[in-house]
Amino acid sequence: MKARILKKLGIEPVNNESFQIFIASIKTIMEYAGDVESLANWNAPILSDLNKLSSSEIELIKSEVQNTNLSIKECQVEVQKLIPQEKRKKFAVYYTIQQGTDLMTSIVKEFLSSRKEKVVLVDPFLGSGSTLTAAIEKIGVEKVEKVWGIEPLPLPALVAYVSLLHSMNGKRDAVTVILGDAFEEIPKMFSPPFVQSKLPKADIILTNPPFTRWKYLEKKYREHILSVIEKLGYKKYITRKEVSLQTLSMFLCDRILNNNGLLISVLPASTFYTIYGRGYKSLLKEKYGIYAMVESKSRVSFSEDSGFKEIIIVAVKGSNKKLTA
Ligand SMILES: C[S@@+](CC[C@H](N)C(=O)[O-])C[C@H]1O[C@@H](n2cnc3c(N)ncnc32)[C@H](O)[C@@H]1O
Repeated sequence: MKARILKKLGIEPVNNESFQIFIASIKTIMEYAGDVESLANWNAPILSDLNKLSSSEIELIKSEVQNTNLSIKECQVEVQKLIPQEKRKKFAVYYTIQQGTDLMTSIVKEFLSSRKEKVVLVDPFLGSGSTLTAAIEKIGVEKVEKVWGIEPLPLPALVAYVSLLHSMNGKRDAVTVILGDAFEEIPKMFSPPFVQSKLPKADIILTNPPFTRWKYLEKKYREHILSVIEKLGYKKYITRKEVSLQTLSMFLCDRILNNNGLLISVLPASTFYTIYGRGYKSLLKEKYGIYAMVESKSRVSFSEDSGFKEIIIVAVKGSNKKLTA
């Protein structure tokens, strides 16, 4: 019956570990909900599909929820390891490790030290929400107006939603997680003509974009995302032969970041010394003040299992170009 539940909810892979993570997520969300059935009306990844379950399947979920000791924090790390190798590589499911999120969030705290207004936090390549939950924990719920992100894989998206809800003390209106592709969702919300988007632009982006090798992406998809980025106004920064998924992802980040907003991102170090990052470097020079580029002394990467040499870039958008907002 567990496998049938996972299939009906679109959760992959269909195995006991996935089921346990699903159950731990439901247990956490139940701290803020009336009953399991009512979750089907929540605007959250996967949950509307609870409508497809029979009453005996719902009863099984309820009884499993009583028996789990898995914490949502553990799920945030473990969920990436369940993804089959091929898919993990394709989507770059290599989440930011604690050393990275510690550094990112200390900088956010400093950035906000003299700012009284609440902020909008965003990660358009959300994974299980590690960067944003760490930030909320560091700066405090009271500083956060809204937190949102996009993630294409259903179970990580659910874990991210639940983790964010939990770190926001159950404030449902303040949390949005879109199950989807950022190259589809961001243009839908933030393209001209500028209709008011239902989500606000970011004051702070904390991310680690997918860095799948360009040649491993399907040709049709490559063409599609190139034209998406060109239409968003970044054509002058793109030489079609010299692109990478991570630089196109960073143009999307630029699209949704407010002026004077803070960008902190893990990026492959190669972005800054190969021709593939040339266009993004031009954008950074024109529009941003670069505050720091940090590498780790003790590890090559800031992402779990990635194996890439990575850095963390800290930049402020706009003419002000100072770290203090
Ligand atoms: C390197 S991981 C980082 C996850 C998270 N930001 C973190 O720092 O832990 C990249 C994430 O981007 C997601 N991803 C891949 N392609 C995407 C796309 N087109 N739109 C949105 N997210 C995507 C992957 O599923 C993965 O969770």
